[in-house]
Amino acid sequence: MILVVVLILAVHTLAQNETHFIYNGFQGSINKLHVDGIATVLPNGLLQMTNYSIHKTSHAFYPHPVTFRPNRISFSTTFVFAMTPQVPNHSGHGIVFVISPTTNFNDTLPSAYIGLFNPSTDGLLTNHIVAVELDTVQNADVDDIDGNHVGIDINSLKSVDAASAAFYSDEERVNKTLQLNSGKPMQVWIEYGEVDMLLNVTVSPLSYPKPSKYLLSKHLNLSSILLHSMYVGFTSATGLVSNCHYIQGWSWNQNGKAQDLDLSKLPSLPKIKHHIKKKQLIIFVVLLAVLLMFLVMIIAAVWFLWRKKFEELLEPWEKEYAPHRYSFMDLYVATKGFKNSELLGVGGFGKVYKGVLPSINRQVAVKRVSHDSKQGMKEFVAEISSLRKLRHRNLVQLLGYCRRKRELLLVYEYMPNGSLDKFLFDKDGKSNLCWSSRFNIIKGVASALLYLHEEWEQVVLHRDVKASNVLLDADMNARLGDFGLARLYDHNNDPRTTNVVGTIGYIAPEVSRTQKPTTSSDVFAFGMFLLEVGCGRRPSGKQSDNDAEDFFLSDWAYDCWKRGEILMVSDPTLEGNYQEKEMELILKLGLLCLHPKAAERPTMRHAVMFLDGSATLPDIPSEYDPESGIYFGEVWGNSGSYPSSSGTASLTFMSSSNSVLQRGC
Ligand SMILES: *[C@@H]1O[C@H](CO)[C@@H](O)[C@H](O)[C@H]1NC(C)=O
Ligand SMILES: *[C@@H]1O[C@H](CO)[C@@H](O)[C@H](O)[C@H]1NC(C)=O
Ligand SMILES: *[C@@H]1O[C@H](CO)[C@@H](O)[C@H](O)[C@H]1NC(C)=O
Ligand SMILES: *[C@@H]1O[C@H](CO)[C@@H](O)[C@H](O)[C@H]1NC(C)=O
Ligand SMILES: *[C@@H]1O[C@H](CO)[C@@H](O)[C@H](O)[C@H]1NC(C)=O
Ligand SMILES: *[C@@H]1O[C@H](CO)[C@@H](O)[C@H](O)[C@H]1NC(C)=O
Ligand SMILES: *[C@@H]1O[C@H](CO)[C@@H](O)[C@H](O)[C@H]1NC(C)=O
Repeated sequence: MILVVVLILAVHTLAQNETHFIYNGFQGSINKLHVDGIATVLPNGLLQMTNYSIHKTSHAFYPHPVTFRPNRISFSTTFVFAMTPQVPNHSGHGIVFVISPTTNFNDTLPSAYIGLFNPSTDGLLTNHIVAVELDTVQNADVDDIDGNHVGIDINSLKSVDAASAAFYSDEERVNKTLQLNSGKPMQVWIEYGEVDMLLNVTVSPLSYPKPSKYLLSKHLNLSSILLHSMYVGFTSATGLVSNCHYIQGWSWNQNGKAQDLDLSKLPSLPKIKHHIKKKQLIIFVVLLAVLLMFLVMIIAAVWFLWRKKFEELLEPWEKEYAPHRYSFMDLYVATKGFKNSELLGVGGFGKVYKGVLPSINRQVAVKRVSHDSKQGMKEFVAEISSLRKLRHRNLVQLLGYCRRKRELLLVYEYMPNGSLDKFLFDKDGKSNLCWSSRFNIIKGVASALLYLHEEWEQVVLHRDVKASNVLLDADMNARLGDFGLARLYDHNNDPRTTNVVGTIGYIAPEVSRTQKPTTSSDVFAFGMFLLEVGCGRRPSGKQSDNDAEDFFLSDWAYDCWKRGEILMVSDPTLEGNYQEKEMELILKLGLLCLHPKAAERPTMRHAVMFLDGSATLPDIPSEYDPESGIYFGEVWGNSGSYPSSSGTASLTFMSSSNSVLQRGC
């Protein structure tokens, strides 16, 4: 029985006689805290004094009283806290470490009173309260020095001593300011020794060791304030602005230095600025969505433009011509996007570009023809398809086509040496084309025309024989070029209006009257071509810059011939380096082909025979048509009044739908 009483007494004494305790986090500790207000211990052991609710107070006390005996009132305590404002630099109100005779704070106020007093209790000597405030709001009523200070309070919020939050860095030997509500954990040490009666307060960031110098050191006789039995703990409050206040750990000792906190065991703080992060996340997601939408729109736009750029026109009836069709994309790539640097020439129908077909690595010439009408397109494509079958060593091979809205693209063999007219007319006094080359070219063109007129399945009219339509391959062989466009031109026009296809100066006189091209009209143009090559001059124009009179090559040649001086007209840049017989043959044959009467002109077969010497050239009539007095000049002289064609036009394929010329016509 006595034993039991002694035991009970011993337990009681122990309980009454606590001189030290330590909380490395508040979870599961034997001595559960006494909390009220919105204070709560979070599951991880973190003591949350306040959350973002405004105008709230909270209290957390060691559940048992501590005993202060006269002359035995030394104490040492340390704790780790953190304050995270909802809006950076806007916080309310603070944390106060309190030694109080009671844990009943039911009549205290939040905000400036920090859950410690109310207007009627603040400053009463009967309060017996010793406190250290960590205050983040400047309150003029209680003479706060600023909105970020540490103060020592005795019975009143009017601090007996205060200092702006700062710490002494031993390493750098300077005082550094502290932002109490930075959300970062900080450690506070509060120590009092009854011998020198100094209350020392030290603060530092958790990452720093305890500074050797105190922030506050105040001489106080606490034995007149502290009662025998007191409670130790914290009060906290929010005001108009709220703040999350946390205590992570706490150690207390009345019998020497407070035991160091085990920092590694302290509960971690909630992710700071959670709300703001959430907001940022929403903003981020919205931004991302907008960006994504924008991206999708750009991609769609690019895709649309891409589609439009490379859009082709392909109709069901074109299926059978598919093998002759090139994709626009291929041609686009081949010509480097129809770059100006790849431009070979500009004709009346369109531009010609040089290109390399990527799939077969073949050099080609691509002609872009603008074409507005759908009318006749079927026939025309059929013609193109047929023209592909034309094979002659003196013809430029048509390889295929591509069709787009308002545009037709024709793909030809590439001729590295360009067109003949460049050699004939763009020269500075000296010929860059010797006579044997010229003669060879003439024979080639004659051979090509013979093939078109007589040697293929159907009669094909060229309709635009001239030096600029004669191209030269790598070996300077003549290749008659420019295909099918005259026919396209026919389709493109109102059939009621009459138009002559061809080039002024090369159009036979009867064609300007009947609009009916024949093989003879091709021969006429060939005659003009012969004079061009022999004389190195264009069919008409001014003889020299200061000559007011128009010059007609055929008239001049004819006059010279009549005077027996035909060789006078030979190209002066040849400087006489030619076979006189051949030159005479060319010029005379030219005049013969230029006969105003179609029936009097030789056929291409005859022309070829004259050229290779297997037939002798007949005499040129001394007067082409004495009765009518037709003279070359009149033919040309009227040319200005012709409905002019676009200036270039070419090979015409006489399909069945048009006037088919039967062989021998
Ligand atoms: C309790 O207080 C008495 C008297 O001051 C002291 O002798 C004793 O050691 C204390 N007990 C503990 C557990 O500190
Ligand atoms: C703050 O805590 C109290 C009590 O735990 C709760 O009623 C209130 O909703 C909390 N406020 C916020 C903003 O979390
Ligand atoms: C908060 O206040 C501190 C000290 O006055 C300052 O250095 C910091 O830039 C402020 N932060 C914001 C977000 O205003
Ligand atoms: C506060 O607590 C005291 C003592 O327990 C009690 O008498 C008083 O009625 C309480 N006041 C309020 C407002 O709860
Ligand atoms: C640091 O602050 C303390 C207390 O406010 C002061 O006494 C001391 O002179 C300061 N030291 C330096 C280096 O500023
Ligand atoms: C308080 O600080 C002073 C120096 O400023 C020191 O002499 C005294 O011992 C300190 N008191 C305690 C209890 O640490
Ligand atoms: C401190 O206060 C107590 C109680 O009022 C008094 O007895 C004591 O003499 C004071 N000590 C000093 C050094 O003034």
